[in-house]
Amino acid sequence: MARHLVTSALPYINGIKHLGNMVGSMLPADVYSRYLRRRGHDVLYICATDEHGTPAELAAKERGLPVDEFCAQAHEAQKAVYDGFELAFDYFGRSSSAQNVEITQHFARRLNENGFIEERAVRQVYSPADGRFLPDRYVEGTCPHCGYDKARGDQCENCTRVLDPTDLIAPRSAISGSTDLEVRETTHLFLLQSKLQGEVEAWIDEVGEDWPQLSSSIARKWLTEGLHDRAITRDLDWGVPVPADTWPELAAEGKVFYVWFDAPIEYIAGTKEWADAAPAGEVRDWKSWWYEADGGADPVRYTQFMAKDNVPFHTVMFPATELGVREPWKKVDYVKGFNWLTYYGGKFSTSQKRGVFTDHALDILPADYWRYFLVANAPESDDSSFTWEHFAATVNKDLADTLGNFVNRVLTFSRKRFGDEVPAGGTAGPAEAKLGEDIARLLAEYEEQMERLQFRKAAAALRALWSAGNSYLEEKAPWLEIKTDPEGAALTLRTGMNLIHLYAVVSEPFIPATSRSMRSAFALADDTAAWVSAGQAAALDAVPAGTGFTVPPVLFGKISEEDLESYRSRFGGGG
Ligand code: MF3
Ligand code: ZN
Repeated sequence: MARHLVTSALPYINGIKHLGNMVGSMLPADVYSRYLRRRGHDVLYICATDEHGTPAELAAKERGLPVDEFCAQAHEAQKAVYDGFELAFDYFGRSSSAQNVEITQHFARRLNENGFIEERAVRQVYSPADGRFLPDRYVEGTCPHCGYDKARGDQCENCTRVLDPTDLIAPRSAISGSTDLEVRETTHLFLLQSKLQGEVEAWIDEVGEDWPQLSSSIARKWLTEGLHDRAITRDLDWGVPVPADTWPELAAEGKVFYVWFDAPIEYIAGTKEWADAAPAGEVRDWKSWWYEADGGADPVRYTQFMAKDNVPFHTVMFPATELGVREPWKKVDYVKGFNWLTYYGGKFSTSQKRGVFTDHALDILPADYWRYFLVANAPESDDSSFTWEHFAATVNKDLADTLGNFVNRVLTFSRKRFGDEVPAGGTAGPAEAKLGEDIARLLAEYEEQMERLQFRKAAAALRALWSAGNSYLEEKAPWLEIKTDPEGAALTLRTGMNLIHLYAVVSEPFIPATSRSMRSAFALADDTAAWVSAGQAAALDAVPAGTGFTVPPVLFGKISEEDLESYRSRFGGGG
């Protein structure tokens, strides 16, 4: 048993996320956390809404709400969707929390004491047409590296390079489109990342070794380009205030920290929110998860989940901040990065309302359908494409035919012939021996892929476990056996029921609601949530003869041609 800290990139507050966001961060983090909990580890999965910055200000303005009220509402709206997806966060916090203000300011003070922060006069883009300084991401233009013409002043989303607004060719205001931009002088705090380059490199040499290729190559590329000193403050009304005790003048001007400075610190602050929210009598030691005091508590393994555009910030910039603080804050051990999920080969787009949003997905079908499909097709080694046709085919084949139908056939037939208790009789023979071997091998494969965070391969192993049940059932054909050898049929059905129970245990990380339904089919006295070893699984005897059972409602409905047609017309299909 080990302690596992898990975080997924904090979703921006400004709108409900689409399926692409979900599959590249929160969903695999939840599947992994659930798996680790099942294996008996001590797991803490923390996520939060990322609430600061201009997108939040603008979204609030659009709704005619004060930004704090907008964020409070939008947080609840996102949380409701994540509850619907059964994301089992230990805590879902808010980067605008008092805890994050406190820890972010602490980090800034420490960085300053250690000589990693400097005040610099900067010339900043001011837009007379908009009456404001333009934050980096509200200056758009052509990327000087790759020529992409919608690059933002903070980063080019085409080539992922980090930019300054003044790097852009032909800059314009993203708010008004105005090209009448001035440059005015103002003072900002700079994080002297260049001084930390060597330390970050040494750290990546040490831990980046077994990161997935996607994460380590992005980190390396960023380091090769060199860590530049970055402004970490902004002229905005909404954000973590620059602490007045350290920078009275900047505080008086109302400067706040840049959203990317305080957002990753919320991973820590969200853990403190979790501790502060402990019910009376329960002690939650948030610091033991984050602060590596010598000789202290058990070591923590920290795994982060995110899409590839977030990788530079997590592998380089946030670690640089943590290193510069000169306190033993836990740094990430494993960075699981994802490519993009596309919608028919094109971009999912929040602004253009293209693709499927998480709230709409749940309007159509229960979470388990989405959870399984998305994780089984996660964009791990490459981008992957969502199409309604692929989704329907996967649901119908894997979930309805392979798993759902197996469960239903075994239980319905057994009840019809033997009543509502697991039937006794029969002696296991070569078919059961072979099934046991297959199950043990596939379970070991499933575990190995989960430990390696290879989600597509883990899903394939899970699917193979379900298929093994079908092959066994087809081979034994209890509907024929019953005529000549009722004892043998009883054995076959009892074995099938044990498979169902095993499926309930091992499928839980992917399809938690269906797992509950499979598990609760059996009236087992003390049915713990514990995992099963390959050996136990092969024995197929967790559900003994005489156990009462019920037949759950059909687990997965098939998606018909008409359904498909209606989804395509509602959400836009191929063309
Ligand atoms: N909100 C960012 C995004 O959606 C991710 C922030 S991750 C954090 O791209 F670590 F900075 F919080
Ligand atoms: Zn570019």
